[in-house]
Amino acid sequence: MIKHIPVLLGSVMDAIGDIHAARVIDATFGAGGYTRAFLNAGANVLAFDRDPNVLDDAKQIKQEFGARFEFIARPFSAMAELNDTFDAIVFDLGISSMQIDNPERGFSFRADAPLDMRMSENGPTVVDMFEQWTVADISRVLRDYGDVRPAVAIANAIKRKMPTTTFELRDLIHNPRDVAPVFQALRIAVNDEMGELSRALDSVPNLLNVGGRCICVTFHSLEDRIVKNTFRDWTTAPGDSHLPQVAAARFELIRARTPTIQEITQNPRARSAHMRGVVKSY
Ligand SMILES: C[S@@+](CC[C@H](N)C(=O)[O-])C[C@H]1O[C@@H](n2cnc3c(N)ncnc32)[C@H](O)[C@@H]1O
Repeated sequence: MIKHIPVLLGSVMDAIGDIHAARVIDATFGAGGYTRAFLNAGANVLAFDRDPNVLDDAKQIKQEFGARFEFIARPFSAMAELNDTFDAIVFDLGISSMQIDNPERGFSFRADAPLDMRMSENGPTVVDMFEQWTVADISRVLRDYGDVRPAVAIANAIKRKMPTTTFELRDLIHNPRDVAPVFQALRIAVNDEMGELSRALDSVPNLLNVGGRCICVTFHSLEDRIVKNTFRDWTTAPGDSHLPQVAAARFELIRARTPTIQEITQNPRARSAHMRGVVKSY
């Protein structure tokens, strides 16, 4: 299985700046590519990941870096429970190469496997969701999270045939162009990816020190929109901007970045990536 190649890591490091002795949350540990770079630059890292399969990599890093590294095997929205402050909080969203390339996880329509698609081992699988959801629920998920045009027809076919494997699902979708968006939509829904992101971002302002940065790398327009709108709210002064006494915004934007052609050639997974960031100004 191919190990995950970190995406936009150079841009993320530039956006955070000097992190020697800084306290950093890596919200999405994955294969530990970002975490390792932060630790090598002298930071202290608290990492989250809800996938138990990353535990071996986390243990290895713990052995190498000792007290400078802590790992929490929970969804990153749990950062809201931390009673502490940090100099940087970094999200590298979506799924890792290890998850998509492991046929048993059911993320890929290129390998036959049970329709699971959970990043963690908790909660309902796609098959469980098909049992619980109505045709209307499924078509809403397909439309909202995958922009799938024949959402109702596919939702009806799902409820009629109740697929339990990736190939059974793939084979009931008539237009091959709809297959990837259907799989993406179901993955987003089963993992509550948008809810997780919104809840975690809500807790970021209180977790950051003044001068602290929040950096997000996104891979599709839905999560990018949540990040963009949230950062816009934080960087817009509240109240009526015609009044002189208007309060200053608490955050400033950091220049957004996308991968270079060279990075995309070396790592095609980077092609849809966008990096956005903010710095807390007071
Ligand atoms: C794109 S990978 C991160 C790769 C990592 N930056 C690296 O360099 O190796 C995303 C990781 O985030 C994890 N993840 C996604 N959503 C999560 C959530 N809400 N809570 C915790 N972990 C999450 C996934 O399990 C996956 O391992």
